[in-house]
Amino acid sequence: MSTPHIHAPEGAFAESILLPGDPLRARFIAETFLEDPVQVNSVRNMFGYTGTYRGTPVSTMGTGMGVPSAAIYVTELIRSYGVRRLVRVGTCGGISTDVKMREAILAVGASTDSLTNRTRYNGWDYAATANFELLRAAAEAAAGLGIKTHVGNLHTSDLFYNSYQNALDVWQRMGILAVEMETAGLYAIAAEERAQALSIVTVSDHLVTGEETSSDERERTFGNMVRIALEAIHSLSG
Ligand code: HPA
Repeated sequence: MSTPHIHAPEGAFAESILLPGDPLRARFIAETFLEDPVQVNSVRNMFGYTGTYRGTPVSTMGTGMGVPSAAIYVTELIRSYGVRRLVRVGTCGGISTDVKMREAILAVGASTDSLTNRTRYNGWDYAATANFELLRAAAEAAAGLGIKTHVGNLHTSDLFYNSYQNALDVWQRMGILAVEMETAGLYAIAAEERAQALSIVTVSDHLVTGEETSSDERERTFGNMVRIALEAIHSLSG
């Protein structure tokens, strides 16, 4: 079977999936953390894999960057491939000075400048929130692994290179922890499709301090998010 953007047999994806933006990160997750990974998608080089983690079937696939790209893959995975539990594992730019470089954030909700949720929600403001069961499982998994996390609100932006006036002031005033580009869209789609979704993001750069991580460092800290996501999925699948 196939959808416009995924060519994989029926049943190729597990019920639970890890979604990095970068398809090469999906490959890294599959090769590093999953047992017996099989590549199940390569359309547009958006690599997808299915394997197991401690006996639990788990898939991983890239989403590309931004809500429109992620929305295509997430919608097709849920509607056509039976995916029910989706965990984004990505990076973000720190906004709050409480969050430090390389720390992980569990996103309770995501505010946004993207109009896709308004389009989806009749022009009104949709409260894009994580699935509580998955969020709680991730918080417990992180505690069990001894990994510090922050729990709070993200801002999902359509523009990486923006010329917004006062954006940082507004975000800080409203208690936004960090900015990234997919979560608000993921949460709204999951709600509409009655699936479970959570974003876990690691601070890869900080908009206040101007700090940045090297790609080497991103690879190393990336593992913490993946472990949290996999343990959370495993605990809910038991
Ligand atoms: N802005 C938006 N998305 C991001 C950033 C950022 O600074 N860093 C990582 N993802």
